[in-house]
Amino acid sequence: MIVVESFADVRAASSGRVGLAPTMGYLHNGHLSLFRAARADCDTVVASIFVNPLQFGPTDDLGRYPRDLDRDAVLAEQAGVDVLFVPSVEEMYPEPPRLELRIADLTDHFEGAHRPGHFEGVAIVVAKLLAGCQPGRAYFGRKDAQQLSVIRRMVADLSFPVEIVPVPTVRESDGLALSSRNTFLSDDDRMAALTLSGGLLAAADAVDAGERDGAVLEALVADRIGSEDGARLEYASLADAATVQPLVELTVDAFLAVAARVGETRLIDNVAFSVGDDSVTVDRGVILEGPSVLEGS
Ligand code: PAJ
Repeated sequence: MIVVESFADVRAASSGRVGLAPTMGYLHNGHLSLFRAARADCDTVVASIFVNPLQFGPTDDLGRYPRDLDRDAVLAEQAGVDVLFVPSVEEMYPEPPRLELRIADLTDHFEGAHRPGHFEGVAIVVAKLLAGCQPGRAYFGRKDAQQLSVIRRMVADLSFPVEIVPVPTVRESDGLALSSRNTFLSDDDRMAALTLSGGLLAAADAVDAGERDGAVLEALVADRIGSEDGARLEYASLADAATVQPLVELTVDAFLAVAARVGETRLIDNVAFSVGDDSVTVDRGVILEGPSVLEGS
């Protein structure tokens, strides 16, 4: 694996089918599953680590976002990454961008509503990574369901010649979705955080049992989180996966998304549903096999 800091060096080190997995680092097994998916599909696997200031709001956690490049480099190499791209802010933004990328409608609700400017910042950095690294495939986690929908739409609207590959959410053995921010959780916070996945998995079971009413599914999540003093619900909502609009009934491909504050940390999670002619397939994500790379760090 080589570590490079410029787009030109990424392109010089790439050949054949190139797979890109963008991250903000402090790698965990969710990120590593993107790298492994790219390794299985591609000749050159590029992983980027860049804590993108443009996607953090003034009250967000940019200043305390966890970073550990030495550790990340070891984990990336073990997961099969060929090129680790770690641009500086100056490489990524030699000047503050004048281009604005607003993805109308898809960012009206959920994360878009709670984090003004967030998806505009994500869209700019992902557009730059796609243009500068020129991958044939780019890998994104279903953990950030709205982000995946927004990026798919941007790529379609701009005719980027890249295939967006979604990767299932990786969960700890107790159900908690892996996140770099989990490192901030105390033992009590971690127990409270389990209400997010617990509520979502209960709703997933209800869908398997035939429930299709969005309000019923949302209440299963909201009530579970409401029963826990250590967690404060921001939203629990069924959303159309293509339009990211709230959905009254599960009639099209959708995700049930939740956001809550646990202590000082804001967590998001979701389960996804694909609707067939006479059945609904539920994607709960996958349970991590073996220890989490964040344990003990
Ligand atoms: P980050 O939060 O570091 O996540 C990088 C990628 O890993 C995203 O595609 C995210 O969905 C995926 N991911 C995170 N947790 C996961 C989990 N538990 N299971 C599977 N995949 C998971 O998302 C970002 O960074 C940034 O917004 C970025 C796209 C890099 C743009 O700055």
